[in-house]
Amino acid sequence: MCGIVGYIGQKDAVGIILNCLKKLEYRGYDSAGIATVCEDKIEVRRGMGKIAELEFRITEKPLTGTIGLGHTRWATHGIPSDRNAHPHVVGDLAVVHNGIIENYLTLKQDLESEGCVFTSDTDTEVIPHLIHKCILKGLKLEEAVIRALSYIKGSYALIVLRGQEPQKLIVARQESPLIIGVGEGEYFIASDIPALLSYTRKVMFLDDGDIAVVKSHGVDIRKLNGTLVTRQIQEVHWSPTLAEKAGYKHFMQKEIFEQPRAIIDTFRTRIRAGREISFEPLNLTRKGPPSINKIFIVACGTSWHAALVGKFMIEELCRIPVEVDLSSEFRYRNPILDERCLLILISQSGETADTLAALKEGKSKGTKTLAICNVVGSSLARNVDDVLYTYAGPEIGVASTKTFTTQLVALYLLAIHLGRMLNRIDMDYVERMIKDLVRLPHLVEEVLDREEEIKSLAKTYVHYDNFLYLGRGINYPIALEGALKLKEISYIHAEGYPAGEMKHGPIALIDEGMPVVVLAPKGNTFQKIMSNIEEVLARRGKIVVLTQKGNKELIYKANSVIYIPESNPLLIPILLTVPLQLLSYHIATLRGTDVDQPRNLAKSVTVE
Ligand code: AGP
Repeated sequence: MCGIVGYIGQKDAVGIILNCLKKLEYRGYDSAGIATVCEDKIEVRRGMGKIAELEFRITEKPLTGTIGLGHTRWATHGIPSDRNAHPHVVGDLAVVHNGIIENYLTLKQDLESEGCVFTSDTDTEVIPHLIHKCILKGLKLEEAVIRALSYIKGSYALIVLRGQEPQKLIVARQESPLIIGVGEGEYFIASDIPALLSYTRKVMFLDDGDIAVVKSHGVDIRKLNGTLVTRQIQEVHWSPTLAEKAGYKHFMQKEIFEQPRAIIDTFRTRIRAGREISFEPLNLTRKGPPSINKIFIVACGTSWHAALVGKFMIEELCRIPVEVDLSSEFRYRNPILDERCLLILISQSGETADTLAALKEGKSKGTKTLAICNVVGSSLARNVDDVLYTYAGPEIGVASTKTFTTQLVALYLLAIHLGRMLNRIDMDYVERMIKDLVRLPHLVEEVLDREEEIKSLAKTYVHYDNFLYLGRGINYPIALEGALKLKEISYIHAEGYPAGEMKHGPIALIDEGMPVVVLAPKGNTFQKIMSNIEEVLARRGKIVVLTQKGNKELIYKANSVIYIPESNPLLIPILLTVPLQLLSYHIATLRGTDVDQPRNLAKSVTVE
């Protein structure tokens, strides 16, 4: 969702804020704005469009200052427009906000009845009005913000700047991420780490209910009730180059090609002597086999697809029943949880509002919690009993790629670890599983080497408007993921389906205008998939098949074949994913869509 940035120091705030906003554009990009203080007056440039538009506005009408704030918007309340772009200004106050003010309508009506004039359709605008009202009553800026927040229900990460108090920024957080970057005589504020990597790697993570007064020489952090709190400065290990395109046309393409490295980073430190998986810091298994009788895995979007694959891995190796839920469904269905359950939450960002809400639900019922997460210090990572980090590095493309395959690697490691702890698999088996995993990055490279082939396939299929993706068993979630990737970045309608279900409905859609992407690796359901292919061909559908080499039968039947290397069946989902990512990427670039920032989407969905 929206990205927010703040700066206070001695340098040109505008250049720094613009630069940080560009790194946050994946959070939202329908409008953008900046405010600074110049001679005790708030100066604002804002409007519809991306950061490039904002830069253009600033070139036309320059802005200066050594303190300021910025925003890149993903619309929730009010259409993308100049008037709805942040910062919102009331009196000499400017505010940027990420989140949703749930009671804004009532507050707005009250404020209007007192004579306040609103100039936008956003929920955010009630915040500067409330603060302004408190300032008129004689409160200092920080006191006014605290008072204003006491009226507000909902989620927020916000930064407040006042013309007459130009030596401080007030920042506050409730259920929306916010970090403070520490420099030399300067501070940076941002929604996400990548925004700050070019300036500092020392960060403080704010907690819910924190409010901070940030000055160039220090930060004072309190709870809303006034209690002083300390937030440790942590060192972030992501390098700034990981957040650059490095010669690739798009971040998404770069991130697809980073997968061999990301996979190695995710398993490297967890393998001992080639025959053991070690999660030393895992509370869950520290004192021996965990006493769990059921596992729930909860996630959204692509991470949910990883959860579906994880179910197969864990059930296969641990023989514990696993239930998979969408986070948004889980928390409202009163799930049957207790302290003998393990709740695994998967999230790239660790900030997805629905997944955080699912965590709350689990914790309230005494369940043990474990996160699989890519962002160190994220809300999810900080609030669970255990975290398994994926070391994919920052993912800037809105469509998840390397974070998905590394989630699958983390789940594979977890399944082996739990399986061994519970004595469901022996050491020799573990050794074989590890060998397969160590080979995986080379196999992914083999698939990546086929990019040109897949690109020419994209040319064949770019003009179709509907696609069906079919898979079975552990590869069915990959059909869902393939379809989601295509939808997200090319805006082509695509559906993923379990192949066996096709004849129960979707078969009605098949004709010569419907390419069907079939995931058909060798295995116990291969012959069944062959029958599904026949059923499609009999209705003149086009078949694109993904399989290992040597399946001659398929070569004669399919319109197009993409080969993947041979591997362990639990790792085949990863090898099937990579060509599907490339296929979507090339179809989208041929269609000329904005691959890294597809319409209507945002990288971190921090509102419910
Ligand atoms: C995937 O390409 C999407 N960007 C989206 O479905 C994403 O996976 C989902 O919003 C969950 O995000 P999270 O992993 O950060 O929780």
